[in-house]
Amino acid sequence: MTADALALTVRDLRKGFPDPGGRRVEVLRVDRLDLERGRTLAVVGESGSGKTTLLHVIAGILPADAGTVEIVGRPMTGLGETARDRLRAEHVGYLFQTFNLLSHLTALENVTLGMTFRPRAGTVPRRLAREALDRVGLSDRLAYRPPQLSVGQQQRVAIARALAGRPGLVLADEPTANLDAVRAKESLDLLLAFAEECGAAVLAVTHDDRALVRFQDRLTLGMGV
Ligand SMILES: Nc1ncnc2c1ncn2[C@@H]1O[C@H](COP(=O)(O)OP(=O)(O)O)[C@@H](O)[C@H]1O
Ligand SMILES: [Mg+2]
Repeated sequence: MTADALALTVRDLRKGFPDPGGRRVEVLRVDRLDLERGRTLAVVGESGSGKTTLLHVIAGILPADAGTVEIVGRPMTGLGETARDRLRAEHVGYLFQTFNLLSHLTALENVTLGMTFRPRAGTVPRRLAREALDRVGLSDRLAYRPPQLSVGQQQRVAIARALAGRPGLVLADEPTANLDAVRAKESLDLLLAFAEECGAAVLAVTHDDRALVRFQDRLTLGMGV
């Protein structure tokens, strides 16, 4: 297997935070994790077990304390913040629980904005954004702002934003937690199908048993690492 076939490689990863007294408390410890392109992994664990922290460190939103993370064969750890932002913009799609759409921008602008930090952006992001919004069934809502869309439609804009740039890896933090059962299933179907079409790996935090069975692999994070 070439390094590029691996969407994600994690080795000996550690992350802690200072407690209110200033003492470092380790909240995350993952010794080894490999995820190939096209595969799906569910991350489970009690509240506070470090699931969101893991996603943030993989995405380079937070620096690791120790260990390595590689995204499509490129090291994320050891980079400064700007280089981490660039690597994330090029190769990682991120789906937030609360969607994190900008309410004053249209659906098309929200999806386009996710790709404007890429090198040589030009007019390509707008075309890719249109294609992605078409793929999630929102080509008639390009000019709508998030408050003018239903929660399910907002989630589809967020899915379009995560996948529009054809990332090797999609990270999703409890992507169905704010949706009713029908919408949650539709949304997960769409996310997994779109990711498969793009050849992306999906790593998703989920509590939902109906969602869990849809993933090929599982990683359980423990408390008190
Ligand atoms: N910025 C921070 N400063 C201090 N502690 C934090 C910070 N972010 C998260 N934590 C702590 O790290 C632990 C894991 O948090 P988190 O990754 O959000 O858990 P989960 O997503 O599994 O519920 C929690 O105990 C939380 O209090
Ligand atoms: Mg969390």
